[in-house]
Amino acid sequence: MNFRVLITDSLAESGLVILRAASDVDVLYKPGLKGQELLAEVAQSDALITRSGTAVTQDAVLAGQSYTYRFKTFRPGLFWYHSHMAPSNETFAGMYGPIVIENNIDLYHVPTVHKRYFDYAIGAGGDRNTLRRIGRGIDLHNGHAAVESTPPAGGRLVAYWGPPFPESMRSDIELRRRRIEERFGRERAEQMTQYNRNLILFPNLIINDAISVVIRSSFPVSEDYVEITAWALAGVDESPEDRRLRLDSFLTFLGPGGFGTPDDTELLESCQRAFANKEVVWSDISKGAKREHPRHDDELQIRAFWRRWNELMTVGE
Ligand SMILES: [Fe+2]
Repeated sequence: MNFRVLITDSLAESGLVILRAASDVDVLYKPGLKGQELLAEVAQSDALITRSGTAVTQDAVLAGQSYTYRFKTFRPGLFWYHSHMAPSNETFAGMYGPIVIENNIDLYHVPTVHKRYFDYAIGAGGDRNTLRRIGRGIDLHNGHAAVESTPPAGGRLVAYWGPPFPESMRSDIELRRRRIEERFGRERAEQMTQYNRNLILFPNLIINDAISVVIRSSFPVSEDYVEITAWALAGVDESPEDRRLRLDSFLTFLGPGGFGTPDDTELLESCQRAFANKEVVWSDISKGAKREHPRHDDELQIRAFWRRWNELMTVGE
């Protein structure tokens, strides 16, 4: 594995030094990078070292004070944080520790990990609001859970227009939506047609109801290898035109060479390397834990899974 280190005079927007273990090191020195240019370089690198760090980003945090860093994670994996100042004295080492960024069954990874897809979908006429979705997480008990959110980025045959559907399909999709509304009422029809859903059936089955309807099952073969099988579902009375659109939709994101799956696979591999770090004993999955109504991009569904897992693993203890 090659290890790419970026050294820059500019400061990372996060104010953090990030490093990942690897064998071969390839060091790049790029002074003067700023803003988007800097972030783009960081995303290509396994490590970022900023040379100017001493009390430049902010004043020192003194005893009894606190400071909260807010930053966007750009990909999962194992990282570490390390702050220091005044290289010549005892505060040089500062505080340091590991950061594990997961790519679990969450929805908050979607806008960043799948940015390429959103660029494509919005560029092809998809709803911009898809980047500011609303939605909820639902605990279905016994480890089962669901998340749903709207508006979708891509089209749904039942029944929401979006890429990769051609413009000529808009009126037909709208007609389908109205028929569903007549049959099921407005509220239920809206939920059926305009919300994407992921249903997690404990322990190893997921139904994705989004740009395509897909059933996925996963079987761990060993502690570091999982086999996943996916089936794209179709209606029994599907027309040849619908079949073409459905398969196009499926392959656009969820297919093995689509916008989504290769990025997810790469990041899951990265997580897997991170999980090998035995010093990190806990994963924090508390996002939204205090919210009365957890959102789709909280971690309710992950807690539902692991609580059930824990129940089963500790039976009789
Ligand atoms: Fe993903």
